[in-house]
Amino acid sequence: MKGLILSGGKGTRLRPITYTSAKQLIPIANKPILFYCIEALKEAGIKDIGIVVGDTKEDVMNAVGNGSLWDISVTYIEQEKPAGLAHAVLISEDFLKDDPFVMYLGDNLILGGIKGLVKEFMETSPNCHILLSKVPNPSQFGVAELHNGKIVKLVEKPEKPKSDLALVGVYMFDSYIFDAVKNIKPSWRDELEITDAIQYLIDKGYNVQPHMVKGWWKDTGRLDDLLEANKMVLDTIATRIEGLVDDESRVDLKVVIEKGAEIIKSTIRGPVIIGKNSKIINSFIGPFTSIGNKVTVKGSEVEHSIILDGSSITDIRHRIEDSLIGKDVEVSKSPLKPKAYRFMLGDHSKVGVL
Ligand code: TTP
Repeated sequence: MKGLILSGGKGTRLRPITYTSAKQLIPIANKPILFYCIEALKEAGIKDIGIVVGDTKEDVMNAVGNGSLWDISVTYIEQEKPAGLAHAVLISEDFLKDDPFVMYLGDNLILGGIKGLVKEFMETSPNCHILLSKVPNPSQFGVAELHNGKIVKLVEKPEKPKSDLALVGVYMFDSYIFDAVKNIKPSWRDELEITDAIQYLIDKGYNVQPHMVKGWWKDTGRLDDLLEANKMVLDTIATRIEGLVDDESRVDLKVVIEKGAEIIKSTIRGPVIIGKNSKIINSFIGPFTSIGNKVTVKGSEVEHSIILDGSSITDIRHRIEDSLIGKDVEVSKSPLKPKAYRFMLGDHSKVGVL
C-alpha cells in the first residue's frame, strides 16, 4: 500500500499567508499540518509516500526532504497547475503503479489517525473507500448521498445539499481509479474533480464503501478551521517546560515552553505552546495559542491564535484573539504623532481594529 499526499493547490482562502508559504506548512501546535499527514500514514504502516507539489514545491521539499526524518521514502510529483484532486491522481500513476493507495489531502487533520481504516480497506479490498463526516455546512464540501447504507451520489460543493455527510480528505483506492480519472471531464471550475471520479466508479458498478469518521476531523483550508484544529491539537499536549520561567510569572497546566524561550513577568494559561527562543514579557498568553520560534510578545495579550516564527507584538492595548500572524510580522503601538493607525499590509490582508 502506498500513500499520496496532495500538497499543491492554490490556497486562495488563506491569503495572504499562502502568497509566501505553502498552506500545508502552516504549523498547528508548532508542527506543519503536512507532518501530521505523514505521521498518520506512517502509523498506518505506509512508508512509500508520493507528495504532489505545485508552486510551493521548494518549501515543501525543504521541509520534508527525502523522508529520512520519519524513516519513509518520499517521491515528489510535480503538478504543473492545480487542475484538481483527480488530476493529482492522474499524474501520479507512474509512482502508484498497480498498488492500492491512500490519498491524503495535505491540509486535512484527523485526530486519532487512520490505522484502523487502512487495515479495514486491506482486509475487505473494495475498489474505493471514502470517509464521511456529518458537518453543519455541507455546501462547502463534497457531499455524499446514501441509500440503504450505499453511496448513490457524490456532489462537489452543492448549493442545495441532499445530506449533511461531507467527504473527509482521506480516500483509499485500488488501481481502477485510473480508469475513472482518465474518463472524466473537467468541471465548471475547470478541475478534474475526485467526486466525479468516484461517481464514475459507482456508476460503473465498482465497490465503493463509505465509512463514517467518528473522531474529530478538520479541513484547515480556512482561518476559523485552522484555529479550531490548533485548539484541538493543543488540548492533547502534556506540560513540558524546557525554557526559563521567572519568579514573577505564572504558568498553568498544558503548557509547552521550548528550549531558549523566556517567560518574564507574564501569565501563560494553557493549552499553549511557546517555541524556541521566544520571549514573552509582561504579557498574557491565553488558551489555545501557538507561538512559534523567535517570537517576542511584550506588554500585550494574545489568545486563541497562531503566531509564526520571528514575529513581534509590542504594547497592544487590547487583547489579540482569533488571529493568524505570519512570519516576521511586526504589530506594535505606534509612537508617532499624530495618534493614528499606521499599516503596511500585503494584498488580501485582513485587519480588525477597535
Ligand atoms: P483545496 O483546499 O480543495 O484547494 P486549494 O488548496 O486550491 O485551496 P483554495 O480552495 O483555498 O484555493 O485542496 C485540498 C488539498 O489538495 C490541498 O492540500 C491542496 C491540494 N491540491 C493539490 O495538490 N492539487 C490540486 O490540483 C488541488 C485543487 C488541490
